[in-house]
Amino acid sequence: MRGHGKRRIYSEEALNEIRARANIVEVISDYTSLKQAGNSYKGLCPFHNEKTPSFTVSMEKQLFYCFGCGAGGDIFNFVMKIEKIKFRDAVKMLAERVGVTLLESESPEAREARKKLGRLYDCMEAACRYYETVFAKNPNAAEARNYISQRGLSDDAVRCFRLGYALKSWDGILKTLIESGFSTEELLSAGLILPSKSGKGYYDRFRGRLMFPITDVAGRVIGFGGRVLDNSEPKYLNSPETALFQKGKIIYGLALARNAIRNKSRAVIVEGYTDTITCHQFGFENVVATLGTALTKSQAKAISRYTSQVIMAYDADTAGNAATLRGMEVLKNEGADVKIGVLPIGEDPDSVLRKQGKEAFTKILEDAKQLIDYKLHLIISQVDTSDLDQKVKAAKEVAQILAGVGSAVERGEYAEKTARLLKISVEAMLEDINSLISVQGSRKAGSRRFQVRDRFGVSRNTSFKDDIAKSCGSGTAQVLKAERLLLRIMIDNKEIFETVEKKLKWDEFSDKRHKKLARAIQTGLDVFSEDTGKNSLTPAEVISFIDDRETLEYAAGVFIGEGEELPENLKKAADDCINVILEHNLVGRIREIEKELMSLSGTGKMQKSRELLAEFGYLKKRISEEFRPFRGIL
Ligand code: UTP
Ligand code: MN
Repeated sequence: MRGHGKRRIYSEEALNEIRARANIVEVISDYTSLKQAGNSYKGLCPFHNEKTPSFTVSMEKQLFYCFGCGAGGDIFNFVMKIEKIKFRDAVKMLAERVGVTLLESESPEAREARKKLGRLYDCMEAACRYYETVFAKNPNAAEARNYISQRGLSDDAVRCFRLGYALKSWDGILKTLIESGFSTEELLSAGLILPSKSGKGYYDRFRGRLMFPITDVAGRVIGFGGRVLDNSEPKYLNSPETALFQKGKIIYGLALARNAIRNKSRAVIVEGYTDTITCHQFGFENVVATLGTALTKSQAKAISRYTSQVIMAYDADTAGNAATLRGMEVLKNEGADVKIGVLPIGEDPDSVLRKQGKEAFTKILEDAKQLIDYKLHLIISQVDTSDLDQKVKAAKEVAQILAGVGSAVERGEYAEKTARLLKISVEAMLEDINSLISVQGSRKAGSRRFQVRDRFGVSRNTSFKDDIAKSCGSGTAQVLKAERLLLRIMIDNKEIFETVEKKLKWDEFSDKRHKKLARAIQTGLDVFSEDTGKNSLTPAEVISFIDDRETLEYAAGVFIGEGEELPENLKKAADDCINVILEHNLVGRIREIEKELMSLSGTGKMQKSRELLAEFGYLKKRISEEFRPFRGIL
């Protein structure tokens, strides 16, 4: 989260120290007078005009919230808002007030570690400059310069992405950086040199390679990829894992792309170095790469900090297809809305742009497919429609996939499209799908979730998330309450959080802010348990991981507002909440089917009606078998 990034300027210990010493009630009392009322304090809101107090401060939770105007947050947010200053200055102001010296709160070990890291960054930066200079000026880099111009990379692209060249020498970087005052130990831990086999001395890791520096989001160089200029192997040699460089965490090009990603509310993920650079050169500045590895959870998280709209445009080869399907699942789990840009077989974004130009790639992005469309595309594009056997096999695979689609309308649409492309009858296609549904329906009726596995091995829970926002029956208030209670429980206990994570996808929360809050809790727990082994979060800590103001203020309300204590048995309460949420989603879907059935009546679309009725019956049965027993708890 950005909020978190901002706060990282200061150690969490320092911030907690300030929170502990600066009594939130006392600080706020400087601006408006507060009176104790039960567990909290109340007063007239300093942020809007009011006659009766709706402004609440909780000492225990370290939060404030105004039920009148919705302003809320922790002590830092309060000072920022009332003084109209930045986070950094609010911290400084409060630190001064309570006598916390910000830098001295760092332990000697922490300071030592920070210095070491600082040296490592300097070392990588010096290496990057060296490779850049060699590329630009060294007579022995002519071959590299030719290679770059042959591939059509512009001077601008070279400058922006800081491309360089490592000479075919054994001690180019070694000598240069030692002369600049770095030790061999530092060069080793930066991954720039290796100990020689003989045991005496060291040599350069990158030799005779075009150098692609890899940076963190802030643009600091943390690693390199080095490409050969010919066809030898390995094509790319990458930095080893170091204190700065963890392959599963980096996203190539993010520092250059992040503004464009934010502005366009969309990120495009490609596989390679050259794909990224060529895309930027052609004006697609919201492009980043995962560098040929499977997309990890932490990469997905990093991207979803900037946008939830993602297009994957991986190489159109077998490896790329498989990586796309896996990556998609990972991104979806982080709440992203993912589509797939389908490239011509054998091509990558770089080659498409070079061969077919900007318009062709624009069209690929515009036509980006949903997961199901993409799977159907993978199956159908390989079928020779004059071969009956192939068609039958493909139809079966398609049926398997479509049987997992929750909405009958959607299924019908896909079935029609597939039938057209495969040149088969749509009735037959639907029959295949329906027979699968009834088998799965009866087999799985007792199971928790309606889950279908197809040959791509990606499971898909039927999700009705979109229906809920629209429905406002009497169940809505109850489900929102369940969601809020669940969120409060989730911050309290990591173990319970993890069970919740397994049973519920964040997108299954019906309120947008609840989804964000759940993600913030996840990030908070990730970060804190990594750093300190902490097992729970305070409301104020969760809030520091939320990046948009609306959600932050709302969250303060959630944590502060519902004065009730948490239930005694948290595990059970969490389960109850989850069941209310899941059931609510099911009911939403049932309502939708009812509406569809009404609109179909009299149109003679028997097939569709029958399908809907089957799904209707199945869902009703599940509700009565799985969810009724849990009713009436909240
Ligand atoms: P590709 O083989 O598709 O390379 O691998 P590319 O990016 O299209 O490179 P060019 O256009 O031929 O120069 C995709 C990505 O996988 C990683 C690199 O990050 C590469 O960009 N990779 C590939 C490696 O790390 N090592 C390799 O040996 C090959
Ligand atoms: Mn490629």
